[in-house]
Amino acid sequence: MILHRIVDYSHILMKQAVKNGDIVIDGTCGNGHDTLLLAELVGGGGHVYAFDIQSEAVRKTRDRLSAEKVLDQTTVIHDSHGKVEDYIPEKHKGNVQAAIFNLGYLPGSDKSVVTTPDETIASVTNVLSSLKKGGLVVLVVYHGHPGGSEEKDALLEYVTSLNQKEYHVLNYGFINQKRTPPFILAIEKH
Ligand SMILES: C[S@@+](CC[C@H](N)C(=O)[O-])C[C@H]1O[C@@H](n2cnc3c(N)ncnc32)[C@H](O)[C@@H]1O
Repeated sequence: MILHRIVDYSHILMKQAVKNGDIVIDGTCGNGHDTLLLAELVGGGGHVYAFDIQSEAVRKTRDRLSAEKVLDQTTVIHDSHGKVEDYIPEKHKGNVQAAIFNLGYLPGSDKSVVTTPDETIASVTNVLSSLKKGGLVVLVVYHGHPGGSEEKDALLEYVTSLNQKEYHVLNYGFINQKRTPPFILAIEKH
């Protein structure tokens, strides 16, 4: 397929944005797939701060990173991404190169534990204030579950209102698919 699928494209964007030595954030580590990619991209000289409110997600992510021998360059935090500011060391504030938020619920787990508009937007706002020029925030927006539509609407309103003198905002998705296909919102600081 020439047009990249949603998760594939989110990874392509991360590969374009992140290099060895960078400081990056995974706002929703879940099963750890995105965290692993980020840990590989930043290498031993960089660092990933990964968040999840579910202990199962934190454990699975740590296990995955440990198996791939990249746990040292990662801090997996059992807390909400809404508190991202409390966990990023002062020296990294203003120096974050990229962040990813894969929204919704953890596949194969409790579907009632989902990301919420207020916390997601608070967290993205904090991350944007810590982002370097040329840095990138990627939101993978799943919205077919209860509460998903409200989060999608709030996020679209939020990113649409970002100042175009400071940010480029991309909306990438397939618009002829049935049901509620996920889509990407990507925010680049310029
Ligand atoms: C779609 S999953 C993430 C999938 C993950 N990126 C992966 O590669 O497997 C969404 C995750 O967000 C987590 N979550 C929900 N609210 C959160 C919050 N306020 N802070 C951090 N994580 C949250 C859920 O527990 C769930 O694991």
